[in-house]
Amino acid sequence: MPDLPRVAVVGATGAVGRTMIAILEEREFPVSELRLMASERSAGTVVNTRWGEVTVEQLDKADPSGIDIALFSAGAARSRRYAAAFTAAGAVVVDNSSAFRQDPGVPLVVAGVNGHAVASHEGVIANPNCTTMTLMMAAGPLHRQAGLARMVAMSYQSVSGAGMSGMDALMHQSRVLIEQREALVAGTWEDPGNEPFQRPIGFNVLPMAGSITGAGHTDEEWKLVNETRKILEREDISVEPTCVRVPVMVGHGISATMWFDTPLDPETARRVIEEAPGVALWADDHVATPLDSAGADPVLVSRIRPTLGQPGGISLWTVGDNLRKGAALNAVEIAELLVA
Ligand code: A2P
Repeated sequence: MPDLPRVAVVGATGAVGRTMIAILEEREFPVSELRLMASERSAGTVVNTRWGEVTVEQLDKADPSGIDIALFSAGAARSRRYAAAFTAAGAVVVDNSSAFRQDPGVPLVVAGVNGHAVASHEGVIANPNCTTMTLMMAAGPLHRQAGLARMVAMSYQSVSGAGMSGMDALMHQSRVLIEQREALVAGTWEDPGNEPFQRPIGFNVLPMAGSITGAGHTDEEWKLVNETRKILEREDISVEPTCVRVPVMVGHGISATMWFDTPLDPETARRVIEEAPGVALWADDHVATPLDSAGADPVLVSRIRPTLGQPGGISLWTVGDNLRKGAALNAVEIAELLVA
């Protein structure tokens, strides 16, 4: 990898893609040339960057020759279709989609937790799902301390996890419903629409994030199960997931209860979290919320407490900016590991 790589952002006009560009700039990532790609809709748009004005290219017409690192966040279908051409042209693809996360030859990396896995890549490195990423920032260090065996995890996922259209939907539905105070109480509210979600998200909670698969779990819930096992390198961790969408713009929260090979007390857990990279422990009298996490790099942890029914475990709350550590920041951190 050259010291000054040529970098492409694929899906550069999306919620994560824009954050990728901002984070490359903030962290002064060494870039000799930046290329931006998106769909036909945005081709020709000019973006002002630290490296000059860059014209967005149409992905299906772009020539990947010369690119050293390609940060993909244009959806799994685009990753499946185009990543191979980029790697064949010599690029390392850091892919934010779910397309390759479970491929045995593709490391699934949370910088600060299993960064060592980057070394085994064969051209593609996968960025975990934003909910799993946020949880792993706390679960990873605790796993190293005591060996994670069992976990019940409930997510409270923001609408930006569904991209620009998720954020547009929350704003639109909130505007429609904010005028209907009495109707919201009486249950006579006017349907504000729901796309891209299954039901309205304004003033509401959807007890399923993602789409239902198999035995009634959503694809988001399966990601939490399978990605946890791959990142923590332990196939027999048992995970009981429930993924919920909440009317929050940015910031995914996860309430998790974990049991370990050896009992873990809250005091030790607090010390481990305080010493972990990329995580900040917030006091329970100023508990960390999604609003606090938006725009912040660290994942925030609060409410570390002992399990009650079956002692020896830990319950905690963790929340992080799903566009930053949950997606774009981790992708750039992976790129930094490649350059280092
Ligand atoms: P575009 O803005 O041109 O549609 P988000 O999930 O936040 O909506 O972002 C999705 C990103 O993926 C955007 O940059 C979007 O580009 C890009 N994208 C979506 N469909 C395609 C496609 N068929 N080819 C290339 N890029 C795509």
